[in-house]
Amino acid sequence: MVREGERDALVVTDVGVRFGGVAALDGVSLRVAPGEICGLIGANGAGKTTLFDAVSGVRIPDTGRVELHGRDLTSASPQRRARAGLRRTFQRVQVFGWLTVEDNLLVASEWRGGGGGVLADLVALPTRRRREHERRARAAEVLDHCGLSSLRDTSAAGLPIGTARLVELGRALVDRPSVLLLDEPASGLDATEAERFAALVRRTRDEDGTAVLLVEHDVGFVMAHCDRVVVLHLGRVIAEGTPDEIRADPAVREAYLGTGAPT
Ligand SMILES: Nc1ncnc2c1ncn2[C@@H]1O[C@H](COP(=O)(O)OP(=O)(O)OP(=O)(O)O)[C@@H](O)[C@H]1O
Ligand SMILES: [Mg+2]
Repeated sequence: MVREGERDALVVTDVGVRFGGVAALDGVSLRVAPGEICGLIGANGAGKTTLFDAVSGVRIPDTGRVELHGRDLTSASPQRRARAGLRRTFQRVQVFGWLTVEDNLLVASEWRGGGGGVLADLVALPTRRRREHERRARAAEVLDHCGLSSLRDTSAAGLPIGTARLVELGRALVDRPSVLLLDEPASGLDATEAERFAALVRRTRDEDGTAVLLVEHDVGFVMAHCDRVVVLHLGRVIAEGTPDEIRADPAVREAYLGTGAPT
């Protein structure tokens, strides 16, 4: 579902990251277009999370370039990247347990007012009230989208993993990201929950044209839900193509020996 004529939302060029003697990423390049769900697979330690860290600004790469919508943001802070439309979820699910489900979404939605002193705040009050109303309306919309409306006022502490992953997704979606990074979103979910999660991601991309880069060990999940797949092996891209092309790629089968060839 790549939208023709639109420039790539995310472009990673020749990115390298070293940890001491280990090259976690070595000359990695990939692109994700608006409306595309791109899977990123590879064995443990292949560099998938390190690539997400380099894209989201948690780690500045030693070499290479990261561009969002044509802007070079290689050295930009995570906040600047977020303003450029990037959101991510984490391999180990992260929700704020001391907040309600709704508040988990509200804290994520960008606060655009304030910072101009008391008088400015007073003048801006009607605008702020309107924005607050808009923020709550948007949170309600995303809660509904994620099937979480009935849990709005529930504490996020102790939610089952499947629900916590939906809260984390909702938090990532509240500002309508144009680029969404999902790190092992199906991990810990049963088959039904994983399908529900995937359906949500697909609907988000259909409705908003979101570019999605998705890391997942469940290769069946990746093959079923991604338009294109990139394979990392020991910090390098060894293959890229449609799920069918990746399934048939001898280099991929070779790299997966011992960890299960993609089926
Ligand atoms: N903070 C760190 N310090 C040192 N080495 C690290 C660090 N983070 C990652 N590495 C190393 O970099 C390589 C890539 O790790 P990374 O976590 O990106 O892999 P991954 O593909 O996400 O693996 P997994 O599937 O287990 O999540 C590994 O060799 C790992 O040991
Ligand atoms: Mg990882």
